[in-house]
Formats: sequence, structure tokens, C-alpha cells
Amino acid sequence: MLALSDGTLLPDIGFGTYPLKGAEGTGAVLSALEIGYRLIDTAVNYGNEDAVGRAIAQTDVARDDIVVTTKLPGRDHGYDETLASFDRSAAALGLDTVDLYLIHWPNPSVGKFVETWRAMVALQQQGRVRSIGVSNFTEEFLLRIADATGVMPSVNQVELHPFFPQEQLRAFHEEHGIVTEAWSPLGKAAPVKEAEPVASAARAHGVSAAQVILRWHQQIGSVPIPKSANPDRQRENFELGGFTLTHDQVAAISSLGRADGRLFGGDPNTHEEM
Ligand SMILES: NC(=O)c1ccc[n+]([C@@H]2O[C@H](COP(=O)([O-])OP(=O)(O)OC[C@H]3O[C@@H](n4cnc5c(N)ncnc54)[C@H](OP(=O)(O)O)[C@@H]3O)[C@@H](O)[C@H]2O)c1
Repeated sequence: MLALSDGTLLPDIGFGTYPLKGAEGTGAVLSALEIGYRLIDTAVNYGNEDAVGRAIAQTDVARDDIVVTTKLPGRDHGYDETLASFDRSAAALGLDTVDLYLIHWPNPSVGKFVETWRAMVALQQQGRVRSIGVSNFTEEFLLRIADATGVMPSVNQVELHPFFPQEQLRAFHEEHGIVTEAWSPLGKAAPVKEAEPVASAARAHGVSAAQVILRWHQQIGSVPIPKSANPDRQRENFELGGFTLTHDQVAAISSLGRADGRLFGGDPNTHEEM
């Protein structure tokens, strides 16, 4: 568990749900909860808050033990729009409160992320949201919302994998008490898994390449949220006990990072999602 700046705790690994929908989505979240995941990541734009909500209603795991995350879409930026969007998300999830609520993308050309953040702060003050954070925010955008409100996000969920390790942003997060969550933590699997420092560490520890990458995240202080539709791979990704990467192995995997290592050009200064 990691301590958030608001005093609550966040599991050190989560379950990503995009693009799982409908009965498949509910089944995947139910099996993830059974395996032991307690942090579930959804978003309005994944079209699966209802499927996630059904799993939370059906599981034997206590509601209080699950950290449900959802994200506000770009088309709902703005103060009143955020409050209304939250109500829709809570209804779709079938929940009164959400544990972690994030602004999905800053969408700087829209220019409304500061007032959106003010509404997130209000939702937290009203007790409707336990923790508030952002996703895909740069240092500049983080400072702008913190300067305007006096509240720094507790979490910033960003693209992070061995090809794009986000060293500078992670250092900034550490300095400002922000926990880093990693989306596409496996880099969507294939090429990252085959990279030699990952493959050699997997051989050395007798584990899979995916397990090496997820352990690398945890050792650099990043919370990975891998997605898998397959219960065996969900378990493989969750059960990371029993091995620790050496300092050299962590450094070799981090050295795979490159300036153009993003998966699809998702630079938050230019990439926008509504
Ligand atoms: N905030 C944002 O802007 C943002 C953007 C993108 C994603 N996300 C979140 O991050 C989550 C994870 O990212 P992602 O789904 O893009 O990428 P990912 O978790 O890095 O990779 C998922 C892919 O890897 C495969 N996989 C999973 N475990 C594996 C294993 N042990 N061995 C081999 N292959 C494995 C999955 O296939 P199978 O399902 O067949 O196992 C799937 O094709 C998303 O689900 C979403 O919740 C957030």
C-alpha cells in the first residue's frame, strides 16, 4: 500500500479495464477481485462504468476494501459540468461515493482544467469522492491547478513503461507528494517484453517478462494498472511476491527509455480526448 497525501492508502497494483465491456467486463473485474486486486480503474470514456459497477455489486469483497477509480471525460470539463458528470458516473457505477476521481486528460486548448479541478476539490469536501487526482498532467498543468486551489492532486496517472519511464515527472511527483500511477504499464506487452534487460531479468528470477516489468514499476515507486481479460494472466500480473530486481536490473530496464517511447504520441500538450 502507498500513502496518499490526503491520508488514505492506495494498493501498489491495480486492474485496468479498458476496453472490457458488458458481461465480459463484469466477469473480468469479478475474477480480478477474486485474485486479490483491490484497485479498479475505469473511466466514462471506456463505456464500462456499468459493467464495473455490476462486478462491485456482485463480488464477495467488501465495498470498503475496493478502491474504485473513474475519470472525468474532456467533454465534461467546467465546474457545473464536472459536478453533473460525477453524478452520472456514480449512478452508472451504482455507488454513492467514488474512491479516486481523476481528470482524464487536461485538454489545454479547451482551457477549463482549472475550474474542473475546483469542482473536484468541492466533490472531495462534500465527501462524495475520497481522493482526487488527475491523469496525463504535465508539471506545468499540475502547478497551475495547485496554485489556483491550494490543493495538489494526490495521484497523476500517466503513460509509463520501460520505453517511457517518465523519470523527470516522477521526480517532480515525489517532490510534491503525488503518487504516480502507470497506464499501459506493460507497454501493451509485445515489444517491451522482448527487450533484453527484461528477458534476462525474467530468466534470472525464473518469472515471466510481464512480472519483471510490473515489479520494476513497484521498485521505482509507480503503481501499475495492467489490463488482462484472461484470469491466468490477471493472476500472473498480481502475484509478484518472491523476487526483487537488483539495482542493476532496475537501471538496465529504465535505460530502455527513449524520448519517442510513447505508444501513440499521447503528449498531453497536444493530444486531447473529449
Ligand atoms: N489515463 C489514461 O489516459 C489511460 C490510457 C490508456 C490506458 N489506461 C488504463 O490503463 C490500463 C492498462 O493499460 P493498457 O490496457 O493500455 O496496457 P497494458 O496493461 O500495458 O497491456 C494490456 C495488454 O497486454 C496483454 N497482457 C496483459 N498481461 C499480460 C501478460 N502477463 N502476458 C502477456 N500479455 C499480457 C493484454 O492482453 P490480454 O487481455 O489478452 O491478457 C493486453 O493486450 C487500461 O486498461 C486503462 O484502465 C489509462
